[in-house]
Amino acid sequence: MTSLFSPLTFNRGPAMKNRFMLAPLTNQQSHEDGVCSEEEFKWLTKRAEGGFGLTMTSAAHVQAEGKGFPGQMGIFSDDHLPGLTRLAKAIKANDSVSIVQLYHGGMRAPKELIGMQPLSASDNEKWGARAMTTAEVGAMIEAFIRGAQRAEQAGFDGVELHGAHGYILAQFLSPEINQRTDKFGGSLANRQRLIFDILEGIRKGCGSNFMVGVRLSPERFGMKLPEVVQVADQLMREELIEFLDMSMWDVFKMPEDGVSQGKTLLSHFTELDRKGCRLGVAGKLKTPAECQRAMDAGVDWVMLGRAAIVHHDYPKLLQANDKFMPLETPVSPEHLRAEGLSDTFIEYMKLWKGFVKDNDGVIDNELILNS
Ligand SMILES: Cc1cc2nc3c(=O)[nH]c(=O)nc-3n(C[C@H](O)[C@H](O)[C@H](O)COP(=O)(O)O)c2cc1C
Repeated sequence: MTSLFSPLTFNRGPAMKNRFMLAPLTNQQSHEDGVCSEEEFKWLTKRAEGGFGLTMTSAAHVQAEGKGFPGQMGIFSDDHLPGLTRLAKAIKANDSVSIVQLYHGGMRAPKELIGMQPLSASDNEKWGARAMTTAEVGAMIEAFIRGAQRAEQAGFDGVELHGAHGYILAQFLSPEINQRTDKFGGSLANRQRLIFDILEGIRKGCGSNFMVGVRLSPERFGMKLPEVVQVADQLMREELIEFLDMSMWDVFKMPEDGVSQGKTLLSHFTELDRKGCRLGVAGKLKTPAECQRAMDAGVDWVMLGRAAIVHHDYPKLLQANDKFMPLETPVSPEHLRAEGLSDTFIEYMKLWKGFVKDNDGVIDNELILNS
């Protein structure tokens, strides 16, 4: 049984002092031009202070037209560097590995926010998106690579590509959404090309110790579980990344498709030969017992989202008291304020089901996010 408090090394970059990662959590607190705000800085550094072995930023858009939420942090301009530099320094000062999540909303970038028709792999009537030209895909690949270089320049230990939840990388991966006929559409090799081209560019364009992870979600938005398993397998077997982050919304769930039954969704990934790549998971992990159960199911680290919003110092509280039990949700706005959330973030959390007292909430998972 691996302890949640044993260190974890990676093929590149610093080791984590424990197995707790802070999940990427969009919080709408940054400035509209993407500059990291004081509130975003406070919210994140408080989690690093609270003992998370790795602190990941919220999704940061790599192109202005990829902005998915109001107040989203950006990494598409050198103007973002001073804020990012301050953030990386403060996270690392707390002995927490610092990672930026690189993001592009694609068709899920609201028109009102980006001032233009959203772009995707293909025309999409439901989302009002138009297909990117091959040249536009090339420019986006460059923007992801530049985003990683900026993260490195700012002093971050690495980046994670957001390939989950139906955003741009998932839009290209999805055989339903991606109807392209160029080298980025058709076969799985073509649909996954975007991810692999970005990874190759980051390896060439960033230092040899710079960490890279990928986040995938195996269901919804037209994802085919066997295909996502194949992508994960290649990423890990060829050691193209230091860590694979599986976002499942429920770590212990069974697959939704009719063909992959009989074992948990997670076990489709824990059974793969991961070589030196580290594998972790996020989804409804609340109690320490659930975190340990996930570890015992074969992952190398666990990721906390909502539990880390409730307790900025979850790892420290557990380390000090092995009987620690997190507060039940819904929690009060006062509690969240004391945990370092601004009123803007608290308002956003009121939209999430059962999270803030006296608010019903409508968001359960990525299905209704942004739709
Ligand atoms: C408020 C909120 C914002 C989120 N923002 C992001 C994000 O920026 N990038 C991402 O990959 N996932 C995002 N997610 C998903 C979380 O990273 C995590 O996978 C999910 O919340 C499940 O973990 P949990 O049950 O511990 O919260 C978000 C979730 C919440 C609740």
